[in-house]
Amino acid sequence: MLNVKICIGSSCYVKGSQAIIERFQSKLKEHGLEKQINISGSFCTGKCNRVGVTVTVGDEIYTGITTDNFNEFFAGTVLPALKKSNQEA
Ligand code: FES
Repeated sequence: MLNVKICIGSSCYVKGSQAIIERFQSKLKEHGLEKQINISGSFCTGKCNRVGVTVTVGDEIYTGITTDNFNEFFAGTVLPALKKSNQEA
């Protein structure tokens, strides 16, 4: 199980946390990963960015996630992190 936390602190919230959560939910459904990736909200991680939302994947913090770069982020960061966590389990 990979934990993904989407920041819903006030800075990230106004930059689109809700839209990012929705993107995650539909991607997990599309890939049938609802039981492998756990999505939750987090408070401010102290990494507020000028653009986009902060997302913590496992132990790594990523900033600047937007609906424009979400697909790239999911394919290039989240899926490899899931693969890695499955190998370690
Ligand atoms: S509000 Fe999200 S990192 Fe600060």
